[in-house]
Amino acid sequence: MNIIKYLQAQGLGSRKQCTQLIQYDLIAINGCLKNNTNEDIAPNDVVALEINGEKQIPVPYPFFYILLNKPADYETSHKPKHYPSVFSLLPPNLLNLPMQAVGRLDADTTGVLIITNDGQFNHRITSPKHKVPKRYRAVLKHAADERLCAQLRSGVLLHDDNETVCAEQAELADAHTLIMVISNGKYHQVKRMVAAAGNRVEQLHREQFGAWRTDGLSVGEWRFFQPDQLITS
Ligand code: URA
Repeated sequence: MNIIKYLQAQGLGSRKQCTQLIQYDLIAINGCLKNNTNEDIAPNDVVALEINGEKQIPVPYPFFYILLNKPADYETSHKPKHYPSVFSLLPPNLLNLPMQAVGRLDADTTGVLIITNDGQFNHRITSPKHKVPKRYRAVLKHAADERLCAQLRSGVLLHDDNETVCAEQAELADAHTLIMVISNGKYHQVKRMVAAAGNRVEQLHREQFGAWRTDGLSVGEWRFFQPDQLITS
């Protein structure tokens, strides 16, 4: 792949801007300063990218997959209304590239959020057909017992919906902490299911989405990953 195209795919600007980065000797790849705008680059061989001496994480090509540990008070939207966008937590070069979140988390929900430019992957992971499990930890307003979990597992009728939905798993870590796994993704599903069962979610955290967890990521941090891991619960 031509080096200018490669730099564009890194979100570093227009063809003209990327050409100038090379002409002004500002780009080093794998420790070598690049000065030939006709050079070919193998994107997957790039392990180190420096722009004007500053290290930058190379964006995988053609597809990238980001795992973000979403903080509260961020909206899963490119056009947020009340809070900053989750995308604003990513570096500026990435923001020049098209990408979408894989499903949404509410502004007050924290935890695993996946972002990608791979539309097929996004579709596959969110399609009800594939039943990708999502594991949530919910803090409940009222003390609960096994009856709540049994109700969630056997199915509840959501308000304003004529379909019964059930949790794949529901158990209490303590009287106010519910661990619930669902494999569909209706709007506000966890909060609505818990409300339909007579309780209320006060805090919600997604611990796992398919095989992916926030392990090792502090709140607000992100990393690239390769989705070759099995999608299991
Ligand atoms: N269910 C909810 O109610 N909210 C979320 O953010 C995710 C699942």
